Parts: sequence; structure tokens; C-alpha cells
Amino acid sequence: MRTKPAVIAALAALALASAPIALAADPGLGPPSTGSDSGEAIRWLYWFVFAICAVVFVAVETALVLFVIRFRRRGETLHDAEGPQIHGNTRVEIIWTIIPAAILVGIAVVVLARSSAVQATGGDRSNELVIQVEAHQFYWEYEYPDGQIALDTLVLPVDRPVTLQLVTYDVNHSWWVPELTGKRDAIYGQTNELSFTPDREGTFEGQCAEFCGILHAVMPTTVEVVSEAEYADRLALHAGQREPGAAQLALGRESWERACAKCHGIAGEGDIGPPIAKNGTLVDRDSLTELLTEGLDTPDVEGYMPPVGRGWPEFQVQALIAYIRSNERLAEPQQAEQEGEG
Ligand code: CUA
Repeated sequence: MRTKPAVIAALAALALASAPIALAADPGLGPPSTGSDSGEAIRWLYWFVFAICAVVFVAVETALVLFVIRFRRRGETLHDAEGPQIHGNTRVEIIWTIIPAAILVGIAVVVLARSSAVQATGGDRSNELVIQVEAHQFYWEYEYPDGQIALDTLVLPVDRPVTLQLVTYDVNHSWWVPELTGKRDAIYGQTNELSFTPDREGTFEGQCAEFCGILHAVMPTTVEVVSEAEYADRLALHAGQREPGAAQLALGRESWERACAKCHGIAGEGDIGPPIAKNGTLVDRDSLTELLTEGLDTPDVEGYMPPVGRGWPEFQVQALIAYIRSNERLAEPQQAEQEGEG
């Protein structure tokens, strides 16, 4: 007869004992430790609301437990005893309506007052960095102020205000790097902005946070926050994206690996998408541009291809072709040769 309470007590004890393990891991109960002013504002608001909820929780649970013990049945048979018949108590009802309403209004006022700190558009923005962020199925394309392109990985200088201008060329996505700031949707037909100032160097991992199709799960992003000097070096490294050379090949390779290979395989061997290695379209600028901009929107879902390169500048298409030609797994040697000559 005593087994059931004993089992329940044991399970409850186990649950209590395992809770600290979950809480010990970063970020525990709250948002992760942060690397920006905006992230700090989010954490502050989180803990502010949490503290109020904690006070209410403890007060309510304490009262509940006290009442359960104080007014428990002590062996008397009360089946036929009725308590006093009460219609209501206006004073008590007013009190328990006003107190929660006041708490909620207080939370709303503080949250609204502090929400500008989350968007973090204040302060001196004379050296602000504006980055274009284009969300695609299934990668992130970043465009720096000088027109340089990077895919999936964004490099930012520390302590410099940044505003991301988010657009999408297909379905909706959501840019989210939890250690830097909150998420912001990329919505078709409009530009959304997200501002923050990274305040420590490091590598911050993010993830598309809006279900956007079959490869939503492999649409991560990385933000590398580095010193101003290293930022300048990194940008200089990619300065030649528009002309034949190492920087162009690097951009072509990035575009292949992050835009094409996620569906078609790293050697074009086919995966979710069909095999495309050594397909003539890959090295034909006009057909490739059309395919990248229009995609393949057949009624048969199996044949769907997103317009994966919509919005690409011309030099990015050229970089992709240059990389494909340079890769013998992707283009026939004679194809590469002919095209190279022509
Ligand atoms: Cu893009 Cu989910």
C-alpha cells in the first residue's frame, strides 16, 4: 500500500536532484552570456521579469502549502458539515484584481522604456558599419560596405556599432545569433534592421530561426568579432573578388560550398538535389545565371530548386564559374579549357 507514495517521492527527489545539472550548463535558466550591448539589454529585461515572477511564485506557493497544512482534514468526518455560504467579497476581489494589474503595468512600462536599448540604435554612430544581409534557401549572404561578399560567416570589428539590413529573396528566414542579440526576421518584400555593438572578441554561432524549408536545420551562421586591425586585414584578403585570382576563386568556392553543395553535394555528386557534376550549365554563364535567378519551380516538389543566386552581383556568378572550372571534379578538363580560351 505504501509503494506508490514512495515511488512518487523518489521520482520527485530525482527530478530535484537533476535540476541543478541542467541549470549549471551555460546559459542555465537565462539567456546566454552576451557579447554586445543589445544582448546585455535583453539579459537585463529577462532577469527583471524573472525576479518579479519568482517573488509571485514563492508567495503563491508558500500560501498554498501553508493552507494545505493548516486546513487539512484531521480525521474528523465532515461529509455532512457545510461551511458558511458566501456570495463574494468585493474588497478582496478588488485587491486581487488591482495588484496583478499593477504588476503587469509596471512590467510593461519598464520593458517599453528599455526596449530601445535592445534595438541599440543610440549613441555615437558616426563610424557605424552597415551590412546587407540577404537570406536565401539555405545560406546567408553578407555584403560589406565596400561591396565584398561573404557567405554564412560574417566578420565584425569589436566595439563598433553595426546595423544589419535584412532582406530575403525567397521565403522568410530569421537571423539569430543568441550571444549577440535577439532574432530578427527576414521578410519578403521588406527590409528589417538589427543594430548592436559587439563588445568582446570571439566566435558566435547562430542559426536561422524561422522554418524555411528542407534544409532549414543546416542554415547556421557564424559571426567572428575581431580587432579593428584584423578586420581590415580580413577585408583586404578578399579585396580582389572582382578580378581573376585567389580572392575570386575563394568567393567562388564559398558560393559553391554554401549555396550549391548543401543540396547537390560537395563534388556535385547529388544529395537532396540531383547530381550536377560536369553538367554543361555549370560553366555556361547565361544558362547558369538564369538557373540561379529563376530556380526551377516545377509542380513536382522533387524538382523544385530555389532561385539560389537571386540578387547575386555579376562578379559572384563569374567567381562561381571560375571556381567550377578550376575544379576537375565539377567540370570536364576540356570544358574548362575551351571556356577558358573563349
Ligand atoms: Cu532559413 Cu530557416
